[in-house]
Amino acid sequence: MAHREENDVYTIQTFNLAKRFTKKKHKGIFGFLRRNQRKEKVKTKNSDVVVALDHVNVNVRSSELFGLLGPNGAGKTTLVKCLSTILIPDKGTAVINGFDILKQTSMVRASLGMVIGGERTLYWKLTARDNLMYFASLYKMPRKETKDRVEELLSIMQLSDRGDERLEDYSTGMRQKIAIARSLLHDPPILLLDEPTLGLDPTFSRQIRSQIKELAEKQGKTILLATHYMEEADQLCDRVAVINNGKVIAIDTSDNLKALVKETELVEIACYNPPPDIKMHIEKRLKDVKIVKLIHGDEKKGSPSRIKLIGGNAEKHISAVMDMLRQKNTRICSLNIGAPTLEDVFIKLTGAKLTETEPGELRV
Ligand SMILES: Nc1ncnc2c1ncn2[C@@H]1O[C@H](COP(=O)(O)OP(=O)(O)OP(=O)(O)O)[C@@H](O)[C@H]1O
Ligand SMILES: [Mg+2]
Repeated sequence: MAHREENDVYTIQTFNLAKRFTKKKHKGIFGFLRRNQRKEKVKTKNSDVVVALDHVNVNVRSSELFGLLGPNGAGKTTLVKCLSTILIPDKGTAVINGFDILKQTSMVRASLGMVIGGERTLYWKLTARDNLMYFASLYKMPRKETKDRVEELLSIMQLSDRGDERLEDYSTGMRQKIAIARSLLHDPPILLLDEPTLGLDPTFSRQIRSQIKELAEKQGKTILLATHYMEEADQLCDRVAVINNGKVIAIDTSDNLKALVKETELVEIACYNPPPDIKMHIEKRLKDVKIVKLIHGDEKKGSPSRIKLIGGNAEKHISAVMDMLRQKNTRICSLNIGAPTLEDVFIKLTGAKLTETEPGELRV
């Protein structure tokens, strides 16, 4: 990405955006009956409130591919929904393409394309072409222009020859591509993409990721990409905001974020069948290692478990941990020192784990 100046014009800017939800209790007819039986007072306690966005401030530059990385429940979808005017924030506001999300709703909507929950928002009984023609008609584009645009988008998505098949006969990945094509119909300058590769196989994920990259680099779109796949954020995004429990805890380039974890602070040992109490033993014996994580792999499928030591003088304790593992007959397969991922950054910042889900093979 080109060098940017301090006084950049931001295409997406949020100002202390806050949103809370009240947990729904006793839903449905049984809940109704139970509530009536117990004559329960319907009062909202603090513990019933979920803080989905906690005074979020993010600034996304023009043509930037900006990642929003956080675990399940972090607040990513809520932020995307607030920016797209589907949800009204409790506090704060945001400016999209120069328009305020609270006061200039229709201008905001015209400025952006959005993929939320992707394929589920399309008509499965219609063909891909008809879906795109239908949604284009909502933008009141001239028919000839619409036809050309639909063909262009089908071609970008490499689905021109399958455009006359109904979406119910499409694969999940193909439907996701049509969802992205739909968001591009009116050629908006801004795209909000919520987990665009969720549940897709490695081939489709790779195709969609390279299309996202092209949209930012070649077409100059400003893209906010919400994901919980750290490699996706790491490899695609110019900058990443790490979000947890509704709070943005860090914003920077991936490299700068990774530099928060010093080389000597990180050790990762991959092994099969580690003793379940290994974390406790390490924590007991090596007091100056700040965080110890045992991340279970899918060992039957050949993906080993990983023991991570983060913080303090992690590097000094490699041999002690190896000895502990050998004594328990654990098969060690690799040792990694000082090559942090965004997951390590997340663990260091929060003490929690970003995700146990590994995305498929990723090459952009
Ligand atoms: N309509 C709603 N009613 C009640 N709580 C909600 C609602 N929508 C979201 N929440 C809560 O707000 C928090 C943030 O949810 P959100 O969907 O924004 O997270 P997310 O980062 O998108 O997670 P995921 O990775 O699982 O999609 C969660 O605790 C969620 O349960
Ligand atoms: Mg979500």
